[in-house]
Amino acid sequence: MEIRIERNPNPSPKPADESHLGFGKVFTDHMFIMDWDRDKGWHDARIVPFGNLSLHPGTTALHYALEVFEGLKAYRKADGSVQTFRPYENARRINNSAARLAMPQIPEDDFVQAIDTLVKLDEDWVPHSEGTSLYIRPVIIGTDKSVGLHTLNSAMFFIILSPSGSYYPQGINPVKIMVETEDVRAVRGGTGFTKCGGNYAASQRAGELAEEKGFTQVLWLDGVERKYIEEVGSMNMMFKIDGKIVTPELNGSILPGITRKSILELLRADGYDVEERRISLDEVIEACENGKLEEAWGCGTAAVVSPVGWLEVGGKEYEINKGEIGPTVHMLYDEITGIQWGKAPDRFGWTHPVK
Ligand code: PLP
Ligand code: COI
Repeated sequence: MEIRIERNPNPSPKPADESHLGFGKVFTDHMFIMDWDRDKGWHDARIVPFGNLSLHPGTTALHYALEVFEGLKAYRKADGSVQTFRPYENARRINNSAARLAMPQIPEDDFVQAIDTLVKLDEDWVPHSEGTSLYIRPVIIGTDKSVGLHTLNSAMFFIILSPSGSYYPQGINPVKIMVETEDVRAVRGGTGFTKCGGNYAASQRAGELAEEKGFTQVLWLDGVERKYIEEVGSMNMMFKIDGKIVTPELNGSILPGITRKSILELLRADGYDVEERRISLDEVIEACENGKLEEAWGCGTAAVVSPVGWLEVGGKEYEINKGEIGPTVHMLYDEITGIQWGKAPDRFGWTHPVK
């Protein structure tokens, strides 16, 4: 793919204090854009100065939520070079999301090339401090200029970059999660397994109420029986119950997380007992009450590995591992971040140098 590059004549100063980056608030000097239409397919791949998009008010994405996105990170290694983590997994997932929403898919190599070229150009924005990274947000939106509901005829793919610190203000400290019993995020047959904006819109009200009550995020239950654990707002969930690590199976309504997949591969390679299956909330509560729930954590690109110290269910609070970081979370955090930041050998071939 040929990418035209228009350099930003007015680059912004890089954040001087990397300890207060927060998540997703600062953006780099450039962005990648490519257009699609039915006649030409994907065309006009370009990197341009970061700035506002100009959209017709009838743009499909603004009315019918034809929008899918991805999230991955670029990490700075000790030798100064930069690498991403399993970017082809994100390429496959954005295409699965796009297919579900009847939106155009992107050749995997073009997706990765676009990220590599953009990150290379803005390489100086990849932060250096421990625990920081450059968050990469690829997005496809439907761009037909019509409020009629019909087959999509045009789309735009863009990528923006954001130097970021830890997703939760708590860092790796245990978070408080509220089990949501009213709203539902997704159902099988819907879009739960995709990374589409609509899923996050459906989650917004419960998330806001939980935040008001002092919780970090909500834990979703299945949308039919409201009995089985699904996932948290931006993380897949895992539990260690009686020595065994269990995580909800990919049932069509939860996101197939790349961190989840990596952790399962890592645990299995190291001989841990791991199960992907349905897990009821009752099972988790019972295990907590009889002392068998050893640890609980969420995992995701933004959140990395995040211990859950407290679960609230219908006004009752359950403490997990005394609200402390457990040994499995410690081990997984070190293993995953070790590979991501190039501090540990990449024994699974997961890293992708940005050259
Ligand atoms: N579940 C949801 C709803 C998410 O938004 C995310 C974050 O992307 C995850 C799980 C974790 O997925 P991944 O590990 O691919 O970032
Ligand atoms: C990610 O972890 O990459 C995400 O997309 C989560 C997002 C809701 C911030």
